[in-house]
Amino acid sequence: MTDNAKLILNGNDTVELPIYKATLGEPVIDIAPLATKGHFTYDPGFGLTAACPSTITYIDGNKGELLYRGYPIEQLAEKSDYLEVCYLLLNGELPNHTQKDTFVDQIKQHTLIHEQIRSFFNGFRRDAHPMAIMMGVVGALSSFYHSTLDIHNPEYRQTAAFRLIAKMPTIAAMCYKYSIGQPFVYPQNDLDYSADFLRMMFSVPAEPWKNSATLTRAIDKIFILHADHEQNASTSTVRMAGSSGANPFACIAAGIATLWGPAHGGANEAVLNMLDEIGDVKHIPRYIEKAKDKNDSFRLMGFGHRVYKNYDPRAKIMREVCHEVLAETGVGDTPLFKLAMALEKIALEDEYFIEKKLYPNVDFYSGITLSAMGIPVNMFTVIFALARTVGWTAHWIEMVSASNTKIARPRQLYLGSTQRDFVAMDKRPKA
Ligand code: SDX
Repeated sequence: MTDNAKLILNGNDTVELPIYKATLGEPVIDIAPLATKGHFTYDPGFGLTAACPSTITYIDGNKGELLYRGYPIEQLAEKSDYLEVCYLLLNGELPNHTQKDTFVDQIKQHTLIHEQIRSFFNGFRRDAHPMAIMMGVVGALSSFYHSTLDIHNPEYRQTAAFRLIAKMPTIAAMCYKYSIGQPFVYPQNDLDYSADFLRMMFSVPAEPWKNSATLTRAIDKIFILHADHEQNASTSTVRMAGSSGANPFACIAAGIATLWGPAHGGANEAVLNMLDEIGDVKHIPRYIEKAKDKNDSFRLMGFGHRVYKNYDPRAKIMREVCHEVLAETGVGDTPLFKLAMALEKIALEDEYFIEKKLYPNVDFYSGITLSAMGIPVNMFTVIFALARTVGWTAHWIEMVSASNTKIARPRQLYLGSTQRDFVAMDKRPKA
């Protein structure tokens, strides 16, 4: 703790507010002493509010830095793999050989889902958005593990983490197969996590399946880049839901619901829809003007970020992965990718985007990359949710295992009516 902040209320009442120093990044001002002073603080959207202490992920929005447990995302994307990053996010340290092998085996014990869950899918229309299906199916998992949902039991928390990380690829692939009317493909535990995900997505029983090492590495990197991101909207939702004592599957389903929004994880799908709408390089200036027009709700999808006021470090890596996938799949010179490159160049040279520090974020390139891998647009956020499940789970465990966790309960600035008496129908103003 460092020295206090001093607040003067009502002209003469000085309130001492403790300041806590962070390992990295901004110190925080503890406003607890305001409780006795009859004031709340006001921060709609919580953009300036540290909601919790955490040791999991650090973002420096001005420098464009992202660390998972202190390790730079660039190094993890280059040198690690997704399950190793899952171990790191959950346990705080990189695993040694034995720890990694044990962790991978523990995950593999949970890749199947209960056969009853297959019938859940039949309740959805074939054209249901896969995010709607994933949200429903993940929430329903809570009805299958009642006996091990005591969230205060560390072993149960760990098993819930294994189940969620292991089952998300199976469920995601099933969402896709259901939407195209193909048979579900069961997990195959002798394959690596990301290789088996692509097999469950794209193999069919009638044909032999051959994985592409390049596409497997690409999807594994995409999972790493999306694994966690501090207290973003969906993670904050998982923490909020978890603070009431809700079970982990319900909390993760709430996170999936939040991620779906186009301002958040739904942006990758929105980027592709936006590129389709722009259609041609010659239309870009008009859309840039629309994005700048305060009276127009259009936003340049894949640009801007609540925290990054510099290039999103994930976008740089995503751009490289995008090039690799486009080369591997032979769709490098598609009009879509050329349009995206032109849009990025024009936006980055535009005064408005420079002044407002609007750079491409991770979603700008992920959509193009996933599309080149043959993944349909409506599955992009499902992939994001699959990858982010470990981050949500790590934050849920960090919060639930903390001794001082209380139910989250923000207050408000009330601007409604003062108290008034009920008015009988015959006394009310006529329409
Ligand atoms: C993700 O939080 C996370 O960590 C999220 C995420 C994660 O990993 O969990 O990183 C994933 O959600 C990435 C963001 C994906 N969303 C999009 O790409 C959608 C397009 N982006 C915008 O909707 C927007 O940039 C937000 C929602 C991401 C942020 O919006 P803010 O909080 O308004 O951003 P800001 O305060 O920096 O905006 C500054 C100004 C504002 O104008 P003024 O009020 O100053 O006049 O820039 C404008 C904004 O209106 N602006 C844009 C813009 N983004 C911000 N103008 C045009 N196009 C945009 N994309």
